[in-house]
Amino acid sequence: MPTTEQATGSVLSARELTRHYDISRGLFKPHATVRALNGVSFELGSGETLAVVGESGCGKSTLARALTLIEEPSSGSLQIAGQEVSGANKAQRKQLRRDVQMVFQNPYASLNPRQKIGDQLAEPLVINTKLSRSERRDRVQTMMEQVGLRPEHYQRYPHMFSGGQRQRIALARAMMLNPKVLIADEPTSALDVSIQAQVLNLFMDLQEQFNAGYVFISHDLAVVRHVANQVLVMYFGSPMEMGPAEQIYTHPLHPYTQVLLAATPSIRPDPSKVRVRVSGELPNPLDPPGGCVFHTRCPHATERCRAEVPVFRPLDGRWVACHYAGEVGERP
Ligand SMILES: Nc1ncnc2c1ncn2[C@@H]1O[C@H](COP(=O)(O)OP(=O)(O)O)[C@@H](O)[C@H]1O
Ligand code: SF4
Ligand SMILES: [Mg+2]
Repeated sequence: MPTTEQATGSVLSARELTRHYDISRGLFKPHATVRALNGVSFELGSGETLAVVGESGCGKSTLARALTLIEEPSSGSLQIAGQEVSGANKAQRKQLRRDVQMVFQNPYASLNPRQKIGDQLAEPLVINTKLSRSERRDRVQTMMEQVGLRPEHYQRYPHMFSGGQRQRIALARAMMLNPKVLIADEPTSALDVSIQAQVLNLFMDLQEQFNAGYVFISHDLAVVRHVANQVLVMYFGSPMEMGPAEQIYTHPLHPYTQVLLAATPSIRPDPSKVRVRVSGELPNPLDPPGGCVFHTRCPHATERCRAEVPVFRPLDGRWVACHYAGEVGERP
């Protein structure tokens, strides 16, 4: 079972998290199952960032919904600060929901267009604390300052802010109750490139201040390079490779990680060393490939890959699901 750091003291611990969706394909057709998330495990410590990367459709948002208790996993277990989520009673669940906060790709959708920003930021304090009105106002003003908003912004409505400012607001609201964990699902993907770095820096500043564990989700390895301690690479719902960020970026062992890095020119160390090419589309979720899920696009696939599912196993200081990891692909 993968543990990338000591199990003790982790704020978030996932064990074989799995989420399947049963979908109807229409009248007279049998129901089908989409295996959106297949056995994801990791440990996250306070003040650490796990980056989850993979192409669109690989199950990142499904994972985010499971981690934030928006959706129940089909199987597997989740612990938040040592508390098993499935065994929690109503009051404990309420506390766990407070402990894990979320920032989405589109902050506008999560803000109330008719409520002043200051009041929206104060709302978690109204519900969860006994602070007086003026104490709440002080706390909100302090938080607004911490995320780079000005005092006069308190009275403004969401539409009066830019995309970057709205993400600052979403982050302020998420941090309002000092959560143990923050799940950020593509938080900078909708922002201009020039703004992305500022918002990423803000995420990191706040992590230093609040010491929360972050799960930072992105389809882009370049975006998470400077924020991640650990990287989990996913493909088609399954973990492919997980380990310390530096190792994943400089010495990827899984062919899919190699392909992703090769497709990210800004971090590819030396284009002449890239020997891996990928072609083809993601498989159809209703008709998943047997054996290794990556075999339909893997340049190294063999008969064994088509027949046998590779075990997610420890190798060279990380975890990897490939029969031939360490024997194939790019050598930095
Ligand atoms: N509510 C749902 N019902 C059926 N299928 C879903 C549902 N949510 C997600 N999926 C499917 O699960 C897979 C993973 O989706 P998602 O987690 O959104 O991926 P990502 O965030 O990496 O783009 C996709 O094939 C998607 O179509
Ligand atoms: S198990 Fe085979 S198909 Fe899968 S990544 Fe490894 S070499 Fe490629
Ligand atoms: Mg998504």
